[in-house]
Amino acid sequence: MKTDLLKLLLILKPFLLFIFLSLSIFAFLSLKTPHQTLQKTATTTPPEKLPSDLKIRPGYSSYDAYLQRQLNKTLNPKLREIWTTRDWDRKVKVFSEFFESLKQRDLLFNGSKSLCIGARVGQEVAALKRVGVNNSVGIDLVPYPPLVLKGDFHHQPFDDETFDFEFSNVFDHALYPWKFVGEIERTLKRGGICVLHVLLSRRADKYSANDLYSVKPLEELFKNSELMEIRSIDGFGLDTEVVFRKNKN
Ligand SMILES: C[S@@+](CC[C@H](N)C(=O)[O-])C[C@H]1O[C@@H](n2cnc3c(N)ncnc32)[C@H](O)[C@@H]1O
Ligand SMILES: *[C@@H]1O[C@H](CO)[C@@H](O)[C@H](O)[C@H]1NC(C)=O
Ligand SMILES: *[C@@H]1O[C@H](CO)[C@@H](O)[C@H](O)[C@H]1NC(C)=O
Ligand SMILES: *[C@@H]1O[C@H](CO)[C@@H](O)[C@H](O)[C@H]1NC(C)=O
Repeated sequence: MKTDLLKLLLILKPFLLFIFLSLSIFAFLSLKTPHQTLQKTATTTPPEKLPSDLKIRPGYSSYDAYLQRQLNKTLNPKLREIWTTRDWDRKVKVFSEFFESLKQRDLLFNGSKSLCIGARVGQEVAALKRVGVNNSVGIDLVPYPPLVLKGDFHHQPFDDETFDFEFSNVFDHALYPWKFVGEIERTLKRGGICVLHVLLSRRADKYSANDLYSVKPLEELFKNSELMEIRSIDGFGLDTEVVFRKNKN
């Protein structure tokens, strides 16, 4: 009886060894990967259910395909020539009026350290400087020095709590809007101001990555901020100005 059991164990030994090794490897891997898995989830899927009234456009097969679509227009040499010459003064003037109005409402000050997100060739940065907000810079996928640095708004190249003021009129270009907003809340100082110009009344062109149908999704995404103002504007095809203030604590 006892020898039978021993024989059986001897026959089973390779299998038992195999099962033991497999379990060990599995345990090792599952201890090792949660960090990577979490990071991937944080980038590509919303933290919880996406607010209704905000739809991510389907059809971007990969992040690279999204970037290529954005770069396709931004890198166009003929357009860059027009943006930096014929368009320049008109756009700086209109942006200056928006920023002047924000100064009058005590949302922006000469001393505000300011960031423009998706600033392309930087007319909005030039406008900030024109109205006296000298410590200003922009980011875009394509740099345009010295006004615009290279940077992806899904991963802003700045430390936490860097800016007093952030402006953007490119929310619709965010493939991951919760990241776009999360990065703004990360790099704004406590009590800092974020001003977004968005389009609610119709759908933007093929370069957009999401569609926004009301201000409500923004209120949900800005988890650590207070909604200060909503007003109608006429800003290069965008119709609504929304102002948030990051909480003081
Ligand atoms: C409609 S243009 C707006 C340009 C500028 N704000 C203006 O009003 O003249 C959108 C800009 O967003 C930039 N962009 C798109 N996706 C981006 C990303 N993930 N990170 C940074 N910039 C991005 C594009 O390169 C493009 O310059
Ligand atoms: C980029 O634009 C060119 C010219 O408009 C077009 O032929 C090409 O298919 C575009 N590429 C992408 C990735 O959208
Ligand atoms: C802010 O800067 C503008 C432009 O340089 C200047 O005219 C204005 O007096 C400054 N405002 C304050 C409060 O210093
Ligand atoms: C901002 O820059 C302008 C032009 O260079 C200068 O006249 C002005 O004094 C500067 N303002 C501040 C607050 O430094």
